[in-house]
Amino acid sequence: MASFKRVATDQSNDKVRLINIGEYLDDIIHSLHPILKRKSHTIKVNCLKNIEFYVHAGAISQIFTNLIMNSILHAFEGMSRGEIIINISVENQLIKMQYQDNGCGMSPKSLDKLFDQFYTTKENSGGSGLGTYIVKRLVTDSLNGTIVATSNLNEGLSYAFEFYNMQ
Ligand SMILES: Nc1ncnc2c1ncn2[C@@H]1O[C@H](COP(=O)(O)OP(=O)(O)OP(=O)(O)O)[C@@H](O)[C@H]1O
Ligand SMILES: [Mg+2]
Repeated sequence: MASFKRVATDQSNDKVRLINIGEYLDDIIHSLHPILKRKSHTIKVNCLKNIEFYVHAGAISQIFTNLIMNSILHAFEGMSRGEIIINISVENQLIKMQYQDNGCGMSPKSLDKLFDQFYTTKENSGGSGLGTYIVKRLVTDSLNGTIVATSNLNEGLSYAFEFYNMQ
């Protein structure tokens, strides 16, 4: 199956399946090509080739799609060369993911509201404020994991999340 179809199919169901996370991240990034190709932002994935685990694949693709869209729409607004770095590591059955962008970041006050339902600074241009709320729900409910966001104004935004292999 073409990678974008596999990612789209995963997003529409909640099946737990075995994924190779490095390949899967490539598929997700590929599916965003129509949006990324108009920009000169870069996404670097640091992940060993052979990391495989059982997970709700749809949750993984929705999480990264939301985070990457947010970096493009919010972090890199008015910036031509944004950078996203994704680090993946595994300790026994625990999968650790770190996502960071080098965009505009958020003040401590705004960061407090980041995961709130309906919190958006883009109300006038179609933001609903559900993106990060959904990301948090997916990490905690679908993956049974935890997520923490760290930021400062003009210092980018980063997320650290972790969860266990579901097998
Ligand atoms: N990577 C980021 N860098 C800086 N600010 C961000 C970043 N991601 C999110 N934000 C801020 O957090 C707010 C909430 O993000 P969220 O994804 O929940 O909603 P949204 O993107 O505005 O709307 P939606 O995702 O529903 O289309 C954004 O409006 C923006 O102000
Ligand atoms: Mg969003």
